[in-house]
Amino acid sequence: MSKDTLTITDNRTGKTYEVPITHGTIKALDLRQIKTDAEDFGLMSYDPAFTNTASTKSNITFIDGDKGILRYRGYPIEQLAERSNYLETAYLLLYGDLPTQEQLAAWEHEVQIHTLLHSNIEQLIHTFRYDAHPMSIFISAVASLATLYPEARQVTDLDKRHLQIVRAVAKVATIAAFTARHNQGFPFNYPDDGLSYVGNFLKMMFKMTETHYQPNPVLERALNVLFILHADHELNCGTNAMRVIGSSQADPYSALAGASAALYGPLHGNANEEVLRMLAEIGDIKNVPAFIDKVKRREALLMGFGHRVYKNYDPRARIIKKIADEVFEVTGRNRLIDIALELERIALSDDFFISRKLYPNVDFYSGIIYQAMKMPMAMFTVLFAIPRTAGWISHWLELLCDSEQKISRPRQIYLGPECRDYVPVEERQEREKVGCW
Ligand code: ACO
Repeated sequence: MSKDTLTITDNRTGKTYEVPITHGTIKALDLRQIKTDAEDFGLMSYDPAFTNTASTKSNITFIDGDKGILRYRGYPIEQLAERSNYLETAYLLLYGDLPTQEQLAAWEHEVQIHTLLHSNIEQLIHTFRYDAHPMSIFISAVASLATLYPEARQVTDLDKRHLQIVRAVAKVATIAAFTARHNQGFPFNYPDDGLSYVGNFLKMMFKMTETHYQPNPVLERALNVLFILHADHELNCGTNAMRVIGSSQADPYSALAGASAALYGPLHGNANEEVLRMLAEIGDIKNVPAFIDKVKRREALLMGFGHRVYKNYDPRARIIKKIADEVFEVTGRNRLIDIALELERIALSDDFFISRKLYPNVDFYSGIIYQAMKMPMAMFTVLFAIPRTAGWISHWLELLCDSEQKISRPRQIYLGPECRDYVPVEERQEREKVGCW
């Protein structure tokens, strides 16, 4: 008769153990009973980069990487992109279901009235060099919110917690826009409560001397879709950072700054910027085959391709590719799209990419659209961090309410020197370097 258990025989001792299987997993701590003798610490699993380790149960985002499926709280990403807007999707992620009309109106109002920044944050942004990377400014400004709202440390107080959620969702857009304006040497545009979340963001980014700035509805819709697509993606590098920092009960702004820092890496959220650099470097369709050869010789990565979980077309890339044409109707065609399409065409018919299941990811087309909208290239990762704030906080909330969670603390396998005595400096011999640094 089949049983939901795993039988393990330890060939070192000949002993057999039976451990339960739940949700397709065994508990890593169940391995600890497997010992060679009473002194032995017990068996652990070794999983650098957590490629096969679940660190939480979650109800937020479902991904089937092989089938190319992405759902937030059960709702297919395609339906949300088609019918929802960013703020509604943020509510869905945070509170578990789509809001009623009254809940949505209250949520929109709450976020709207918290979009202003304390002037300390404005001054902080001004202190950075004009050419500081906006993501570095963003990370610093988000972390600094904790200096203004010390009650954010009371992470178990429900009312105070709710206030920080609203503040974070509202203020990241303003921080992002002010960061861009600072880089460009333009004065800040203050939030406008007559506009939607995304419309207001566009105004804070782009209003110049016109008295009545109105965001273009096609661009506002496209940015809503991009924000929806970027709002969550379960336990990636940044979200894991959010949960790890949050597990020490640090305030949410510090955790958000840490998650943003993780996102900033070129293998994660900064890939959209790298994609554009790559496309600009390729420069012309006729250079695409030579670039593909370079990738196959391992002299370059095809940025915007490949994903830890999608071994099929990233469903977000498919949606983004579709809205590109709508955006180009307004902005004019970004000539880099032709290079991107050719790269995709060649890569998807080449065995190097097919055999490794390398498909375009969310970042492959998003940068081209952002560039067409006149978003500065260095802002691309910040544009990712704004909506991902909703996802990060949703995971933070789930973590705080999960009685199985503790402070995050993986194990290591120590392979360094055995105990040795301190050697006075004059007696030391130069030794061979350890490690790759
Ligand atoms: N270009 C060329 N080869 C690649 C690429 C790529 N973009 N991505 C993976 N490969 C190759 C690897 O060299 C490896 O080949 P091998 O088995 O012959 O050694 C194989 O494909 C498997 O790749 P891994 O590195 O094992 O895949 P992993 O899951 O660790 O990495 C990652 C995923 C980091 C996204 C990787 O595909 C990559 O670097 N892509 C480019 C950067 C990028 O677009 N990042 C954005 C991801 S989406 C996001 O974070 C929002």
